[in-house]
Amino acid sequence: MAETSLPAGSAMQTQEADIKAAAVKAALAGRSVVLVGMMGAGKSTIGRRLAARLGLPFFDADMEIEAAAGMSIPDIFETRGEPDFRDGEARVIARLLDNGPAVIAPGGGALMRKETRDRIREKAVSIWLKADAEIIMRRVKRRSDRPLLQTADPEATVGRLMSEREPIYQQADLTVWSRDVPHEKIVDECVDALHGRLCDQEGRMGITP
Ligand code: S3P
Repeated sequence: MAETSLPAGSAMQTQEADIKAAAVKAALAGRSVVLVGMMGAGKSTIGRRLAARLGLPFFDADMEIEAAAGMSIPDIFETRGEPDFRDGEARVIARLLDNGPAVIAPGGGALMRKETRDRIREKAVSIWLKADAEIIMRRVKRRSDRPLLQTADPEATVGRLMSEREPIYQQADLTVWSRDVPHEKIVDECVDALHGRLCDQEGRMGITP
């Protein structure tokens, strides 16, 4: 493809990336992009950069939940319990989707609710940021603010959650491997995947998800 022969970071390469991102944004036609996947998959890190690339606002659903509740996620789990957190999470994601287009990063468990999956399918294009267990473990170990991982054996917990959730994540419209490469490379791959799915060769609306 043309861009592989251009020197990295060249003005022409940047221009091509801008044109591709603009084509994707137009083809989204008001829909949002939702990044799904496990804790530690990089949904917020990549989402923030993808939003900047597409010229869309970015929302981290966990941060929106914390703002709405006026307390941190661990405090919500502790004082109100997980079912209450999940209700709030479903409401926040519904609101973000209603107010789109945006790039949205829901928490890793949000898709376990069918109503949330249905809303995402209706109002967004979803990308599964897929990461292997080793990468997830390495990343989640850096933080202690994930209540579900405060167990005697966090590794086993991650394994169990992955096997429960991956069949759901794999229903996403697109899949991009999250791995230890520069963030902008993963963003490029997200834009390429969106472009391939949404745009025909002239960069106009193609297949609808
Ligand atoms: C959760 C993931 C977290 C957060 C909460 C529960 C989960 O978000 O919503 O701790 O069930 O996987 P991230 O996926 O952004 O870490």
